[in-house]
Amino acid sequence: MPLRYTSCSMQPAYHAQLAPFLNRILLGDCREVLKQLPDESIDLIITSPPYADQRKEVYGGIHPDHYVEWFLPISAELKRVLKPAGSFVLNIKERVVNGERHPYVLQLIMEMRRQGWRWTEEYIWHKKNCYPGKWPNRFRDAWERLLHFTKQKQFKMFQEAVMVPMGEWKHERLKKLGENDLYRFNSRSGSGFGKRIANWMEREYAYPTNVLHMATECYNRYHAATFPVELPAWFIKLFTEQGDVVLDPFMGSGTTAVACVRLDRRYIGIEIKEEYVHLAEERLLKDYPEKERERYQQEWNKAVNRFSRDLLNEFADESGQLDWERIVRFNSGRE
Ligand SMILES: C[S@@+](CC[C@H](N)C(=O)[O-])C[C@H]1O[C@@H](n2cnc3c(N)ncnc32)[C@H](O)[C@@H]1O
Repeated sequence: MPLRYTSCSMQPAYHAQLAPFLNRILLGDCREVLKQLPDESIDLIITSPPYADQRKEVYGGIHPDHYVEWFLPISAELKRVLKPAGSFVLNIKERVVNGERHPYVLQLIMEMRRQGWRWTEEYIWHKKNCYPGKWPNRFRDAWERLLHFTKQKQFKMFQEAVMVPMGEWKHERLKKLGENDLYRFNSRSGSGFGKRIANWMEREYAYPTNVLHMATECYNRYHAATFPVELPAWFIKLFTEQGDVVLDPFMGSGTTAVACVRLDRRYIGIEIKEEYVHLAEERLLKDYPEKERERYQQEWNKAVNRFSRDLLNEFADESGQLDWERIVRFNSGRE
């Protein structure tokens, strides 16, 4: 059994071995850095990896034909570090190659299922404000996938946390209640589903659909592929509680970390480009100028990040395993 450590009675427990990584954006290749994280220690993984080689000039990329073989060792590590009741949300979209959609996302889903993941759900991010364009064989692309993977059938989910106001629909629909609406009406398609519309009379909030209508946001001209803070925030509310640990192995400009700080969750980020690590740290600092506590924490993280690579070099053996006894001795001043 791994050691458990509770920082205060209000916070859920987390692995003691995770402590050095909490609320940090680690500089490095996630294929290597992930190996340092302990087993079954993360509550939610949400990330947006490079969509094959769509932005090759900006931060490199992988040819679509090799995408699955590149990603599978990463998803194996993600599966190892995720808690049994945790979730993995993968924001991805297949790119167009030679006039048609390349099937690497579909192939990846099949291979991840073979790896032992359950493909629990697919959410769609509808980009409300995507800019207009014209292509000879298709319309402008206004949506991306958010694939929801889990390790088991029962997983942590807080549906009430993302309920939406009933709005005008309620008044319009409920004004005209028909006979079918007053008792449980079984679907004519024979699907076995039934509904009783009158149940919603008393309610102000309803459960959302699996289509998320959110505008794209460009946080910074130095990072071309950010997602809006609302997007990770929605999944963080849905799949985690306060104090839980959220991992983004392709952190980019720090959007997931910003959502975590706002929602009082802990984050771990990994980013291969040093300039993006700095961008994310600056962003986190700016986001909370008035809150001294967070500012202090971020300053501290920034200082630690400068040393984190050296620290890992210092305490890891050749296979990448950390020597925790030495770290504890070091932390307690005995080394
Ligand atoms: C699509 S962007 C993520 C954007 C992020 N969601 C945001 O809102 O800013 C993908 C990021 O992954 C980084 N990256 C690419 N390969 C990586 C690797 N092997 N390990 C860690 N980061 C990597 C890129 O530098 C880039 O910043």
